[in-house]
Amino acid sequence: MPTISIGSASFQVFDQGRGQPLLLVHGFPLDHSMWSGQVSELSRGFRVIAPDLRGFGRSSPITANDAVVTMAQFADELAALLVALQESEPVTFCGLSMGGYIAWQFAARHPDKLARLILCDTKAAADSQEAAENRNKLAAKVLAEGSHVAADAMLPKLFSQRSLKSQAPYVEETRQVILRTRPQSIAAALRGMAEREDFTGGLSAIRVPTLVLCGGEDVITPPAEMRSIAAAIPGAEYCEVPAAGHMSPLEDPRTVNRAIRKFLGS
Ligand code: MLT
Repeated sequence: MPTISIGSASFQVFDQGRGQPLLLVHGFPLDHSMWSGQVSELSRGFRVIAPDLRGFGRSSPITANDAVVTMAQFADELAALLVALQESEPVTFCGLSMGGYIAWQFAARHPDKLARLILCDTKAAADSQEAAENRNKLAAKVLAEGSHVAADAMLPKLFSQRSLKSQAPYVEETRQVILRTRPQSIAAALRGMAEREDFTGGLSAIRVPTLVLCGGEDVITPPAEMRSIAAAIPGAEYCEVPAAGHMSPLEDPRTVNRAIRKFLGS
């Protein structure tokens, strides 16, 4: 997989296929491998670009204990990455959870680079004060005790009850991805999510075709919340992935890929 340098940071990027560009942006605290059910399948017909965000996977780590990476910074780095990859066509931005928080910033800051949105298992609302405090506490605990604290906190909520039992290899692989992520990177993204803006008021101003996808058993960003995001975005389509949890693209790639292809008209 190619590595792209932007300033002093380097990014590992899956980049395969030809056609309309489809940018897949992973959730927290994961890497591009969460799209393993999409990348090969969808690169038949699309240019699929699936980077590891800064701090995650094999991209440059974050090393300072007190760092914050904001959703806007991630969005700007993705825009720079598209330039570095010589992709001049506006992209379909497909983001899961934290990838969706980044999508709101990308839509606001780089509208000329955006053709369509696919929002998987995400939220438009900011954190409540209590949720933000909990994230900051988790950041401190991860720094003090290690990345396994994030794995233990997240894993039971990422997958549906059924997938936790029937898809044990994916669950274990996801644990390993989190364990390989440096505590500083996890803490910086947690702080960035804690201070993210509320985008609810901006939903009605979205003017690009939008697909909202949600696992029917997602407990982090439940269907009711995602249905209301779809209802607020003019013309948005909503697709629920039955029996999947928060990791719907990994848990049920067939349903997700079918919905993406239908939305993109291929
Ligand atoms: C994610 O999957 O990116 C996280 O669940 C986002 C969050 O913690 O809000």
